[in-house]
Amino acid sequence: MRGVQAGLVSPDGEFKEAGLLRIGEGPRTYCMKIVIAPWERGFGEEALDEIAGLWNRNAGSRHAFFPWTGALLSRVWLAGGMVSTSRLLEARLDGRLVGFAHFSWMREHGYPHAGVVEAILVDAEFRGKGVGTTLLARGIEALRGIEPGLAFVDALGAWPCGFLYTCLADGSERSGVFSGEPALASLFFRAGFREARRSLVMRAPAVASGRVPPPGIGVRVSRRGSDTWLDRVFRARECWDHDLADRRGDVLSRAIYGHMPGESLAEGRTLFSLFGVNTPTHCRRRGWAEHNIGLLLGHVAGLGCDCVELHVYTDNVPALALYRRTGFTEIADTAMMHLPL
Ligand SMILES: CC(C)(COP(=O)(O)OP(=O)(O)OC[C@H]1O[C@@H](n2cnc3c(N)ncnc32)[C@H](O)[C@@H]1OP(=O)(O)O)[C@@H](O)C(=O)NCCC(=O)NCCS
Repeated sequence: MRGVQAGLVSPDGEFKEAGLLRIGEGPRTYCMKIVIAPWERGFGEEALDEIAGLWNRNAGSRHAFFPWTGALLSRVWLAGGMVSTSRLLEARLDGRLVGFAHFSWMREHGYPHAGVVEAILVDAEFRGKGVGTTLLARGIEALRGIEPGLAFVDALGAWPCGFLYTCLADGSERSGVFSGEPALASLFFRAGFREARRSLVMRAPAVASGRVPPPGIGVRVSRRGSDTWLDRVFRARECWDHDLADRRGDVLSRAIYGHMPGESLAEGRTLFSLFGVNTPTHCRRRGWAEHNIGLLLGHVAGLGCDCVELHVYTDNVPALALYRRTGFTEIADTAMMHLPL
């Protein structure tokens, strides 16, 4: 199928709209009507199997790809409290799902009240015809109506927004629009989104280095409770603190890690995510973070981990230098894109 004339028309001006698309050439020209409407099929496994299928067929090349099933989507949406704070739009041709977009809004303490495009996806053979543009425009319109106080809309979930498809599903921090996704970037750009901040996705092999803590310094690994900001952001995930501590037990540097089930499944090896590294201000530039990351890479290797992944803002000079020094190399880069409202 080749699109000759694209454009969705909205004869009645209502949210549920009809699209008229001319496909093909000459005598083979025919019309099809894509109906874009709010998702009204509920959040049960069977209904969500349709979305999972569309996602799995079309998003496989995304760095943040996670293979879904309806059952998993249903569980994650309910666990993440997504049902009451998000809206889903569907695009259908003769009953067949050809696209969907998922929008949410969040109030994270200390952060602007933001809307998020959690996901937007159009079946490969229906791209370039205005379906994505219309899904995006309708979703933003809906967000404005539901939550008038939003400061901006974030494209594809840069932390602390948009945890659903990457963070919650895969225990990773990957978010935003990857530089290998020009069509997606252009879709958001045309809708008025602008780049707000860039990030790198970096990886290092997990290897035991034979490194031991300096005399008088200990390593403590503990499971995080369910009431920290990280547990709230990565709601269904298990995270661990890998701490370097002095004799009194005071933390000299902390690294937080977890398992990445989705990417591990996709790559056939075990990946862990390093969510954050922090050294108390008065302990910085003494090598504690570097030492702790070295120990952590050995610790997770002992747990069967092959590779550790992290996400770092390119303007975080200390962190970037630290990660390069501890063996992390860049594998992808993403842009946080915002539409100010
Ligand atoms: C990034 C951070 C964890 C570094 O902790 P640290 O214990 O001070 O780091 P180290 O002393 O082990 O430094 C190791 C190397 O990292 C690099 N580095 C650390 N701080 C740096 C800085 N302020 N500027 C440039 N490079 C820096 C250097 O290469 C350093 O080696 P050097 O001191 O011999 O030059 C710390 O600055 C921090 O807690 N920042 C706030 C939290 C944060 O942004 N975390 C990262 C989120 S992804």
